[in-house]
Amino acid sequence: MSEASAAATQPAARPNVVVGVAGGIAAYKACHLVRLFTESGHNVRVVPTEAACNFVGPATFEALSGNPVSVSVFEAVDEVRHVHVGQHADLVVIAPATADLLARLAAGRADDLLTATCLVATCPVVVAPAMHTEMWNNPATQDNVATLRRRGVVVLEPAHGRLTGKDTGPGRLLDPEQIFALAEYVRAGGTLTRDLEGLEVLITAGGTREAIDPVRFIGNQSSGKQGFALGEVAAQRGAHVTVIAGATAELPTPAGAEVVRIRSARDLQAAVAAHAPTADVIVMAAAVADYRPATLAESKLKKGQSDDALSQVALVENPDILRGLVAGRAAQAAGDSAGAGEELPAVRADATIVGFAAETGDAHASAEEYGRQKLARKGCDLLMCNEVGDGVVFGQATNQGWLLSRTGEDEVVPLASKYVVAGRILDAAVRLRGAAASHG
Ligand SMILES: Cc1cc2nc3c(=O)[nH]c(=O)nc-3n(C[C@H](O)[C@H](O)[C@H](O)COP(=O)(O)O)c2cc1C
Repeated sequence: MSEASAAATQPAARPNVVVGVAGGIAAYKACHLVRLFTESGHNVRVVPTEAACNFVGPATFEALSGNPVSVSVFEAVDEVRHVHVGQHADLVVIAPATADLLARLAAGRADDLLTATCLVATCPVVVAPAMHTEMWNNPATQDNVATLRRRGVVVLEPAHGRLTGKDTGPGRLLDPEQIFALAEYVRAGGTLTRDLEGLEVLITAGGTREAIDPVRFIGNQSSGKQGFALGEVAAQRGAHVTVIAGATAELPTPAGAEVVRIRSARDLQAAVAAHAPTADVIVMAAAVADYRPATLAESKLKKGQSDDALSQVALVENPDILRGLVAGRAAQAAGDSAGAGEELPAVRADATIVGFAAETGDAHASAEEYGRQKLARKGCDLLMCNEVGDGVVFGQATNQGWLLSRTGEDEVVPLASKYVVAGRILDAAVRLRGAAASHG
């Protein structure tokens, strides 16, 4: 067998991930994080601090990762473990990171295996802090976070929620699923710098439900995963994010984003109109029903009644929210905020508007061509066109398709996590805004 064909038959090397665990109450959640990495084919080395071992014993991490666990640089000295583990890492993720660990990392210390490994590692380092709100807000901690970010370390914003005891506030560890998805996004080359700071980003997510009677509705298969990933990535890039969410799967809400829950397309339209006036970027990722029942039955429609209302539900068209936003922006740019008699949402003249299209190809055109037609029809700046089908896109953790631009700079988006797709959409929006600013 030639060398080339031998290489082709070798199983792909498993990415080496170091999971650092510091001594916070949330250390137990690192067990789930380790599981997420091992079950998705990563080779995981867990490096806890000495304080972390007060919360979870090394034996647990050894059993979960299938690799030896050491805390000190003076264990397995013959292997020079801090150098070996750091040099071979493709990704370092620290969860939870304590205030003390952030200080040690910022100071460049190397007094245990975790800090020494971080100094050796040249791969991306993602840090998920967890601590009481007072500790997180303390200028000492914030300075350490700023120092680490300046050096290229990705310090994730913690979630806002229940802390140890009865306190609530920012400082809660992100859910392991969120840390895993964001860390994998970074490993795939996704941007998590704070480049969206100062921007208001409005995102719609999930599916609408159009009520037929108190029991039934017309809905769709949208899980909200793409919209939530957009919210998560935009918030971690420093944007002020509002997510208007219809029906979604059971998902952790995007940390750092304000989430407004709605039910029907008309609820969505009202919520978008309320939040659009200050938005710099609007991403319409929700699956909005095209039609709704013409009337809402006050009581449950009975099967087999003489008028058989249930089998003949009349439908009326829902408002075209995306087109309304584009028209509202045009009216604003023309100084005609009333929109020539039509009631249009107030949208900033310089807002960037992104639509989504779930398309299938047919005998007349491909899904991509239908996407291009939709971009032209709606007049938005970008359109993420997905080819949907049975078990594809809806409800999945991955997405693919074409990111179409009004400038014609279209991109093929290969199959990737919805976080990676979210990053590409936000990158394209940033590029368009940069180009518009330099021309304007
Ligand atoms: C019960 C308990 C819970 C703690 N939780 C946290 C925490 O969530 N975040 C934090 O920054 N420190 C927390 N600490 C304090 C750290 O354990 C302490 O600062 C320690 O020195 C951190 O060491 P390390 O950074 O090497 O892991 C906690 C301490 C105790 C006793």
